[in-house]
Amino acid sequence: MIFDRLLLTGAAGKLGSILRPALRSQVAFLRSTDIKPLPESQAAANEELVIADLSDRSTAARLVKDIDAVVHFGGIALESDYDSISRVNIDGTYYLYEAARQAGVKRVVFASSVHAVGFYEQLDVIDASVPQRPDTLYGLSKAFGEDLARLYWDKYGLETVCIRIGSSFPEPIDRRMMLTWLSFRDLIQLVSRSLTAPRVGHLTVYGISDNYVTFWDNRLAGILGYRPEDTSEVYRDKIERARPAPDKSDVVSRLQGGAYCL
Ligand SMILES: NC(=O)c1ccc[n+]([C@@H]2O[C@H](COP(=O)([O-])OP(=O)(O)OC[C@H]3O[C@@H](n4cnc5c(N)ncnc54)[C@H](O)[C@@H]3O)[C@@H](O)[C@H]2O)c1
Repeated sequence: MIFDRLLLTGAAGKLGSILRPALRSQVAFLRSTDIKPLPESQAAANEELVIADLSDRSTAARLVKDIDAVVHFGGIALESDYDSISRVNIDGTYYLYEAARQAGVKRVVFASSVHAVGFYEQLDVIDASVPQRPDTLYGLSKAFGEDLARLYWDKYGLETVCIRIGSSFPEPIDRRMMLTWLSFRDLIQLVSRSLTAPRVGHLTVYGISDNYVTFWDNRLAGILGYRPEDTSEVYRDKIERARPAPDKSDVVSRLQGGAYCL
């Protein structure tokens, strides 16, 4: 790891809980933050726990103080009303970037989403250079985060890896997830590689495992040295037996964002 001091936002969340132990074992110091309580008793010796609301501008400077790199996984992770999305995902991400810039943070790993490009057809094969096509206000907030990251790279030299995460779950649970699944082991590797690659500039990649069938060309992730170790293929029989073949003209099975496009 080329960074000694990390901030992890969303540390109490589903993915934050997976990343937290993995990251703190790789760095000298980890500051873990969430709006939800993080029990002090669970803190490692090299870890500081901070309860904070990302939408509160006054806390951002405290979160990034003496930090080299930020893993930004906090925020609203589902579709919601515009006021909530704009307050937490848009304003909150801006406050974090601006505080990071002022504090001299060198790199951010940003949890973006398939929903930033959800209106592409599943039959399209896209790489990460295609124009965004958000499918929800949530997806729009991820598109904003990607663009904000680009501005902060172009203007201030603050690097970001935007990871358009497909579906990061213990295992795929439906046919669409066969295409979009990211195992927890591969999530950890992808975030770690995003922090160990010597230079990333502004880079967007897809967060998927080595799924045999997918709609994403993820060759750009190769420059990070990311080599996924898991594949959804091992779940194919189980999923196809449990889930009937979908009607291909149906929006949910036709578009990359699935039900979020309805
Ligand atoms: N899980 C997936 O498959 C998936 C897919 C695509 C993108 N993502 C993105 O990855 C990130 C993590 O997702 P997750 O599945 O762990 O979601 P999650 O909801 O479990 O975690 C998000 C965390 O952010 C915290 N949070 C919410 N509002 C906050 C605020 N105002 N201030 C501080 N913290 C706040 C929540 O308390 C929660 O612990 C999110 O940004 C999500 O959009 C996840």
